[in-house]
Amino acid sequence: MPVLLRKQTINVLKALQEKKSDVVASELADELNMTYIVVMSAVNDLIEVKLGNFKEEEIDQVSLTVEGLDYLKNGLPERQLINIMLKNKLKEINTQELLKQSGLEKKIFYVGLSNLKSNRWVAQSKASGEDKIFIIAESFEETPLELFLSHFKDKKSIDYYGLSKEEQSLVNLLNKRKLITRKRKTLRKITLTKKGREIELSKINELQQVSKITSTMLSSGSWKDYDLKPFDVSKPGPLLKGGKIHPVINLINEIREIFISLGFTEIRGPIIESAFFNFDALFQPQDHPAREMHDTFYLSNPKTAKLPDKDRVTAVKETHENGGESGSKGWGYQWDENVAKKTLLRTHTTATTVRRLARYYQENEKPPIKVFSIDRVFRNEKVDKSHLAEFTQIEGIVIGDNVTLSDLIGIIKEFYKKMGFEKIVTRPGFFPYTEPSMEISVFYDKLNSWIEMGGSGIFRPEVTYPWGIKNPTRVLAWGLGLERLAMLKFGRKDIRDLYVNPIKWLRHESY
Ligand code: PHE
Repeated sequence: MPVLLRKQTINVLKALQEKKSDVVASELADELNMTYIVVMSAVNDLIEVKLGNFKEEEIDQVSLTVEGLDYLKNGLPERQLINIMLKNKLKEINTQELLKQSGLEKKIFYVGLSNLKSNRWVAQSKASGEDKIFIIAESFEETPLELFLSHFKDKKSIDYYGLSKEEQSLVNLLNKRKLITRKRKTLRKITLTKKGREIELSKINELQQVSKITSTMLSSGSWKDYDLKPFDVSKPGPLLKGGKIHPVINLINEIREIFISLGFTEIRGPIIESAFFNFDALFQPQDHPAREMHDTFYLSNPKTAKLPDKDRVTAVKETHENGGESGSKGWGYQWDENVAKKTLLRTHTTATTVRRLARYYQENEKPPIKVFSIDRVFRNEKVDKSHLAEFTQIEGIVIGDNVTLSDLIGIIKEFYKKMGFEKIVTRPGFFPYTEPSMEISVFYDKLNSWIEMGGSGIFRPEVTYPWGIKNPTRVLAWGLGLERLAMLKFGRKDIRDLYVNPIKWLRHESY
């Protein structure tokens, strides 16, 4: 069987055969201009075909510091100083004078001087009343320390444990002078087996290099016979096209966070609603075109809805017929329970907030109550670039004592501010269930125009009295369009895009 190896492995094997002795992996890597990992993976290949092996060795590596490297080049301070003295024949000289004449840095001068003194090459004396230095030695041969230092001329580092006792004490001396550092390391030494040393390179076949593994290679197992090209991690990868959260869902989550951060709780209500909660409880007269205006989808199955407790139905009926307890005169017509029982797809989430008022009554709750809902509503509208038959409303109410219109404006302003819209305006509006009523618009910089976002107001007594909510307790209410906001946020001109899901946009916008 011919041996099959990757090109790099063959190169490593060749280098090892030429060496004839164990080689340190990192040194071989430097020599062959390969990375360490590439060399070690070649060694792994060699191990697999029983041509090579490696062993680990703990070493204590001694190498020079920046200062040590400087002295290796220019001589130790004591050598620098004595050389200057000898060259200028300064056998006896005033210390300060020598400092000046030598031109050495103060630090080097004093370190040099103190070592010259401990070498007994010079002496310092103030006996004559003057601080003087005298040369006292005859010869100035290379010291053991200098000899040891010169080993670093052809080696970057030396293994401490490979040194003699004397050399080890020199290392300790150099260490004290901060000229060397010591580092523990694990060396990997590569060896060849007998077979590895003897095998002829010409008998080895080179694995074919490929950049991709195909499914056929995987299923047949033939991928093992190829050398996979290394990856270039700096190249851009393919675009990931996995499942992502839809941008509109992300926006809804962002809105949730905002209301929750303002102390609101989320509520949800049924999509299939009774006319009672969608219209009657909101004081919309049964014969009023308002119900038609909403272009309601009525349902034939289920055809009728269950109404709340009789006394609450009666309370709503009375507000319509004569104002009931609310202090108004009502609409003055005969209210029909069967009309209220009709089922429909809710046309607004105000139905859901009115249900919250019913619960408030039933559970005898106390203010303040702050709730919001972000939910789907339905209107029988012709779909075009700015209208959908199903869309989403951002609805909310605050039940509170003595709450006012400026509280309402404050909440709405804060919400849009957090959404990134600083400028909002309110205009008087009309809804059968609020008084006063306000339309809300926000300013959109990119289009340099005001865009209508929805309605709001304070629920009329005719709406709140049936649920036991009376002055000074009031209910602030609003209902805003989500898709409008989404169009601005995502820069879409056609509202349908939000749900038709153009794939390019989704990939760009989702995360
Ligand atoms: N329900 C209204 C709509 O659908 C918005 C609104 C909600 C107005 C609450 C006033 C109070 O347009």
